[in-house]
Amino acid sequence: MAPQQTPEQIIDGQRQDWNRVAGGWEKWDRFFDEQMAFLNHRLVADARLRSGLRVLDLGSGTGYPALLAAQTVGPDGTVVGIDLAEQMLDVARRKATRLGLNNITFRAGDVTTLPFEANAFDAITSRFCLMFLPEIPKAAAEIARVLKPGGWLAAAVWSAPEKNPSIGLAMTTIKQVIDLPPPDPTAPGVFRLAKPGDLAGMLQQAGLIDVSDQEFFGEWSYSSADAYYASLMEIAAPVQNLMATLTEMQRQDVKQRLLESASQFRRGERITFPLAVRMVAARKPL
Ligand SMILES: C[S@@+](CC[C@H](N)C(=O)[O-])C[C@H]1O[C@@H](n2cnc3c(N)ncnc32)[C@H](O)[C@@H]1O
Repeated sequence: MAPQQTPEQIIDGQRQDWNRVAGGWEKWDRFFDEQMAFLNHRLVADARLRSGLRVLDLGSGTGYPALLAAQTVGPDGTVVGIDLAEQMLDVARRKATRLGLNNITFRAGDVTTLPFEANAFDAITSRFCLMFLPEIPKAAAEIARVLKPGGWLAAAVWSAPEKNPSIGLAMTTIKQVIDLPPPDPTAPGVFRLAKPGDLAGMLQQAGLIDVSDQEFFGEWSYSSADAYYASLMEIAAPVQNLMATLTEMQRQDVKQRLLESASQFRRGERITFPLAVRMVAARKPL
């Protein structure tokens, strides 16, 4: 059995992984922004953002939902986006400039040890980050610490793999080609927080109240199965890591199988996948 990694090693690995795929994220940026905008609006609503608020976004990557938060809080408000990967943040900074936003900054840091004073933020948002942390309860405690009393957290994490075939298919297809040990349900990864109540319970433990935990369904649509495959390989750091363990023949086998599976989702001219996101919101008591 492989030796267990320490939290620091996992975080280092995450930093390297996400820096490595930053170029792919920039390439697919427009596509994801267009397809995922509805999630940002839900997060902004769940975090109760309005003009003048000071907002923290956790794991901003290439910028969302932080950029929408900055547009929502306006010139009287501010947004700080934090992420491990400087190269992802460079993309986010370029987008902020293009959008003419002067009220947003991005800084490198770890969500489990937030470099901010207690009660520093009116609200916190996060999209597709918290499940990658080796110590999620520690991050929950940090969220509770830096939120002002009464402030809201709104977080999006992936729901179950069978409800997210665009990602789930990649994992199951790779498993058809090589033997992988059964996944440790507590190990950081895309579906680590898919279970109902998991993140909600950790936030409650950290002292947050009025916790809601809901699945939010939608879809995303690619121009072709090839476009789906290319984007997956260029942006999904966990999938890239698994593919790197395969021989060239096995990689071709995975590609063939994935293209065939993706074709089952053809609707009209496009490949349209359902998606299910767990939206968790909570607030710090007054
Ligand atoms: C799937 S990307 C999501 C980025 C963006 N929020 C979005 O939805 O497009 C996950 C991001 O979480 C960041 N991340 C992972 N672990 C982190 C940690 N411990 N602290 C800060 N950021 C982290 C990664 O660097 C990566 O940019």
